[in-house]
Amino acid sequence: MSNLTAAIHKYDRTRENFLPFHSPVIGEREIAAVVEVLKSGWLTTGAKVREFERDFCRFIGCSHAVAVNSGTAALHLALAAIGLQAGDEVILPTMTFAATAEVVLYFGAKPVLVDCEPDTLNMDPAGLAAALTTKTRAIIPVHFGGQSCDMERILGFAREHDLRVIEDAAHALPSSFHGRRVGTIGDITCFSFYATKTITTGEGGMATTENPQWADKMRMLSLHGISHDAWNRYSAEGSWYYEILSPGFKYNLTDVAACLGVEQLKQCNEFHSRRQRIAAAYDMGFADLPEIQTPVYRSDLEHAWHLYVIQLQLDRLRIDRREFVEALREKNIGTSVHFIPLHRHPYYRSTFGYRPEDFSNASAVFDRIISLPIYPKMSDGDVEDVIAAVRSIVEESRRR
Ligand SMILES: Cc1ncc(COP(=O)(O)O)c(C=O)c1O
Repeated sequence: MSNLTAAIHKYDRTRENFLPFHSPVIGEREIAAVVEVLKSGWLTTGAKVREFERDFCRFIGCSHAVAVNSGTAALHLALAAIGLQAGDEVILPTMTFAATAEVVLYFGAKPVLVDCEPDTLNMDPAGLAAALTTKTRAIIPVHFGGQSCDMERILGFAREHDLRVIEDAAHALPSSFHGRRVGTIGDITCFSFYATKTITTGEGGMATTENPQWADKMRMLSLHGISHDAWNRYSAEGSWYYEILSPGFKYNLTDVAACLGVEQLKQCNEFHSRRQRIAAAYDMGFADLPEIQTPVYRSDLEHAWHLYVIQLQLDRLRIDRREFVEALREKNIGTSVHFIPLHRHPYYRSTFGYRPEDFSNASAVFDRIISLPIYPKMSDGDVEDVIAAVRSIVEESRRR
């Protein structure tokens, strides 16, 4: 046991106040930016959204970024841009959030689920071949927790079978794979700025691509399918005239939200360093506990550390995951579970006939995973409290 963990272990305490699973950093700069937008008189999509898109392109190193009002909207528009049709199939992991598969269903297309790797919890590229049919049009890899999937294998498979790759990077800002920034790798990459994400606009999303036609189409569809620049039609340089090019959606981001994004993006690297330090403290704090498997990450990538997911070694414990989560709550530590795999949900079971044994890794892992708090606002004391709480529960419930 290291000196740090020994010290923590000895100092077995329960916090006086509840440590939430997540809390965003909203400082004076964000508040001032929102006040400025409110005072400007321009609340909806305008100059701040364009500024956020430009800054995002620069940060990622991509050619086009289209801001929308959620990560789900970004995924939906990405599939529309590549021309997904009813009856098509899209391969995606079972270990993800509702949105990844739901957007496929919007088209009357079929989400075909693939099991996860047991250690990284990312989609197992070895499962792609079995999921492929003549109807497959695209793959949506999800960078679970902020660790990039094996994009070399996924892109290789996609190119071999003429499939598009839409990356679900809701967790992966900033993240990279073999030196390439997530957001510049697949055909289109979709980010989320939901309240719990690594940077937030409350609700928001961004789609990045190198393809100008796809970017134009996403931008056009994001605002009722009307010819672009319609957003400035109420400004001095705008015009009342617009044309509807296609039925679209109401997915535009507001300037009120975008100004938060501009300020948060400036702090993205700083937030990231803090998350890295918390992950390293957890790694060290649990290193000597065989009851806790800490996250496994591959070399040569940058992990965004949106999530820190431990796996309980249940055969070494006298309590199950539900009881472990409850014990953490009693010690005033908030947690979550990412994810209940899609194949376990009633809709996917009854519609597609998915069974637990079809996804043996995700099914086994699901009973053991707990997401611990990891966010820049946590103090060193908060991090130590989490380590101490996990360690004392393990101590109390270890099988002897
Ligand atoms: C993996 C994943 N994909 C997509 C989304 C959807 O993002 P949003 O909530 O911004 O629509 C989420 C949100 O939590 C997510 O975790």
